[in-house]
Amino acid sequence: MSSFFIEKLILATHNAGKVPEIAYYIKALVGEIQCAGDLGLPEPEETENTFAGNAILKAQTAANASGEICLADDSGICVNALNGKPGILSSRWGGPSKDFKMAGQRIQEELVGKEDRSAYFMCTLALAWPDGKFKTFEGRVNGCIIDGDPRGDKGFGYDPIFIMDDDTRTFGEIGFDEKQEISHRARAMDGLVAYLKLQNG
Ligand code: IMP
Repeated sequence: MSSFFIEKLILATHNAGKVPEIAYYIKALVGEIQCAGDLGLPEPEETENTFAGNAILKAQTAANASGEICLADDSGICVNALNGKPGILSSRWGGPSKDFKMAGQRIQEELVGKEDRSAYFMCTLALAWPDGKFKTFEGRVNGCIIDGDPRGDKGFGYDPIFIMDDDTRTFGEIGFDEKQEISHRARAMDGLVAYLKLQNG
């Protein structure tokens, strides 16, 4: 008999790209992983005004609909001189066609004449149970918005315009394997993995 604390986990995302990335960290710690998109579960509108609020909303909606334990993530980039924007609106800044080249340009334009180019990526994970209980895990990476053209084609979204503190490469230049070790998502995952290991004994 298996001794996993979570025998079946639903990833509450309809973004197929996130599934292997999240599964990579936790597949050895849960019995079976399924995806909300494949199960036809509803995807709620992100109506909350924090990363945690939206992650909890997505996880709880899927847990209510499926009767299973569900995991959701909400992430984005926050630019200090723009009062934290785009933040929770990060995916929407690319417009309906999710054009992140344009979204990056918009950040660059709004930073013209501003000295402070500091920014950070945030990720909040929410684990939700069908009875309403939930736990959240956060990860953050500090850095800045590149002063110049976007660089690198190895990542996605805002990767080509973000440079982590103490580095000279953008996230678009560092490559998948290294990013999996150091990103905001990796840091949030560290908390989740530690929690699962503790529960699994
Ligand atoms: P959501 O969490 O699916 O609502 O969307 C997060 C959005 O933030 C994505 O569409 C990306 O534009 C951006 N984002 C989140 N994490 C990253 C990252 O690691 N690199 C680049 N962009 C990211």
